[in-house]
Amino acid sequence: MRLKHVKGAEEAVMSSIFTISDPEAKLGRWKDTVTEGKPLYIEIGCGKGRFIHENAIENPEIYYLGCDRYESVLIKGVKRLENDPLPNLSYICGSAENMENWFERGEIDRIYLNFSDPWPKARHAKRRLTSSKHLDIYGKLLLPGALLCFKTDNRDLFDFSLEEIMSHPDFELTEKTFDLHSDPVLSKGNIMTEYEERFSSAGHPICMLKAVRK
Ligand SMILES: C[S@@+](CC[C@H](N)C(=O)[O-])C[C@H]1O[C@@H](n2cnc3c(N)ncnc32)[C@H](O)[C@@H]1O
Repeated sequence: MRLKHVKGAEEAVMSSIFTISDPEAKLGRWKDTVTEGKPLYIEIGCGKGRFIHENAIENPEIYYLGCDRYESVLIKGVKRLENDPLPNLSYICGSAENMENWFERGEIDRIYLNFSDPWPKARHAKRRLTSSKHLDIYGKLLLPGALLCFKTDNRDLFDFSLEEIMSHPDFELTEKTFDLHSDPVLSKGNIMTEYEERFSSAGHPICMLKAVRK
């Protein structure tokens, strides 16, 4: 994805009261110090935050964290939250690869991956957020019984992700569809992301899977 640099984004994101600038300091203490005992759901690669913000409005009993590695995209979500404050949503600017420095084993109750970067070259497969390397991390941090939820319009990435999840010892695939928006059961209550809106408007079917942490 080509990223447009937004002047001042880094300072605006890192100084916002809605950004957790020291996630390492919350390690093992999220439920006590941040979520007030609420379950913790995180979207990795949340982009501009539409999905996570709308989820937080709809589900006040859940605490949401949006994580993205670039301030220039996160700034939109942070600004929206400053204009429409919610007590159950914060952002982290950082990379999924650092999650083990932020969360203790079993500390996360759900992980969302939406329209993750596809990294189409085989030599970059480990960078895909659904690669076994990343599933190892999610497996440690998710509570047994917790869900990993993934949506994409990219069929190659989806097929890769199905294989990785089905062969991973920590996860059991519980739901899948190759056309979410045509599935009356699985699409019920679906909250669209920015990319989902864009790709489905262009006629791309949206693939979705859910897997449970064993
Ligand atoms: C294609 S965009 C999708 C954004 C949003 N989830 C959506 O569906 O509209 C992928 C996002 O993932 C972020 N991202 C990619 N790799 C990441 C990583 N390792 N850790 C955190 N964020 C990452 C990118 O910065 C980008 O904002």
